[in-house]
Amino acid sequence: MANATTTSTPRIDPPRPPLAGKNTGSFAFYTIRDRLPVILTRVIDDLNKATMALDFEAEPEKLKQGKACIESLSGFRYAMQRDRPIEPLDDDLPDCQAWNDYLALYVDGAGHFQAPWLIQECYMYRRIRSILAASPHWRNYDPFAGEKAASLARSIPVLVTLAAHVQALSDRHLQDHYHGPILTELLMLSLWGNAVDLSLLAGSDTGDTEALGNKMVKEASAGIVINNLDVAVPVLAELTGARVDIVLDNAGFELTADLFLADYLVKSGIARRVTLHAKSYPWFVSDTTPADLDQTLTTLAPHLPEQVAAWRAHLASGAWVVETTPFWTYPHAYHHLLHDLEATTTLRAADYIIFKGDLNYRKLVFDCQWEPTTPFMDAIGPLAEPGALPPFVSLRTCKSDVCVGLSVESANNMAKISDWMTSGKYAVVSYKP
Ligand code: F6P
Ligand code: MG
Repeated sequence: MANATTTSTPRIDPPRPPLAGKNTGSFAFYTIRDRLPVILTRVIDDLNKATMALDFEAEPEKLKQGKACIESLSGFRYAMQRDRPIEPLDDDLPDCQAWNDYLALYVDGAGHFQAPWLIQECYMYRRIRSILAASPHWRNYDPFAGEKAASLARSIPVLVTLAAHVQALSDRHLQDHYHGPILTELLMLSLWGNAVDLSLLAGSDTGDTEALGNKMVKEASAGIVINNLDVAVPVLAELTGARVDIVLDNAGFELTADLFLADYLVKSGIARRVTLHAKSYPWFVSDTTPADLDQTLTTLAPHLPEQVAAWRAHLASGAWVVETTPFWTYPHAYHHLLHDLEATTTLRAADYIIFKGDLNYRKLVFDCQWEPTTPFMDAIGPLAEPGALPPFVSLRTCKSDVCVGLSVESANNMAKISDWMTSGKYAVVSYKP
């Protein structure tokens, strides 16, 4: 086993130039120029509505602090759009030092478009957190809660249909103990659940979840440009009484698809425990915090009463455990993961890990300019070393301009589709044994 040391961050550079906003015309460029300012504007609008709803006479201090947050957020948006330097954080949150150490090493005062995009984009969410945390009244406020709730509400009819589909499948397979086919289906549902992501949509409608739900049931393997399920599934299906860790991504629709899978893992006896790794604060608009998990169950309870009762029972019995390791909300690529004692310790306790979504994938492959034909095992660097981590699978719809693991033929074919890496219509399932 490679050594799990402390949270210090020795210098590890991406093996290729990092994706960055300075590459005009790249997806990173458009994200920083167009998408992130829209997300910040929605945060400001949300906070403005929340402050305007206050009783001004009864809560003058909260009003004053809300206005101060709005000022700071507007100033930050202005600085980001003008490529001003990414400033060190200045707050009392426990991860402040870890963040500033990393910024000093890899950003060193560079502007938002000049810095590595991965760090810059993570920084935006951490800065929102920092600005809110400066105000006692708004310290734990989630400016994305409204968007997450509205998106889930719109998805309910599709989730009810998917739940019936999953129920029929699992009734059949729980009896015959033949887990491979249903695990393949459940992993693909969890994969395509990742197509619903509010940071990519920057607050526009959640897309056509009805069409997505149909696709998930009827043609789930279409559009998967690298599909390692043939090797990933048998390893998972063989386990009994194991610990399976899911490094979660988005709340609502995607989370519900993940819970279908987590439920089957427990009911089949494959897993004795499923660890659900959530974010400790609001992140990339729709990422799951523990509060979102609870809210998702509460919202779904009237529509999926049996499922939600079973899921709450898993949480109560410890068959499902929710963890919030700080590392998931660091800007670090996972090439640094083995230097984070807490993240390494918890993941090594698992027998199998499932990384969900685009941001986890970007972190696994260091978000740099790989040739698409680079083998996944090369791109994950130290994580490919024997014993570094248990077997893991990364399930990701492609929503940023990095992708590895394609054959030459497939890379040539995909190159004919200009936006295949960023449209969210294609996906990869990449496995590390
Ligand atoms: O801009 C879109 C984007 O924010 C990407 O930068 C990011 O990787 C992705 O959306 C988040 O997607 P996911 O929720 O799948 O991690
Ligand atoms: Mg996300």
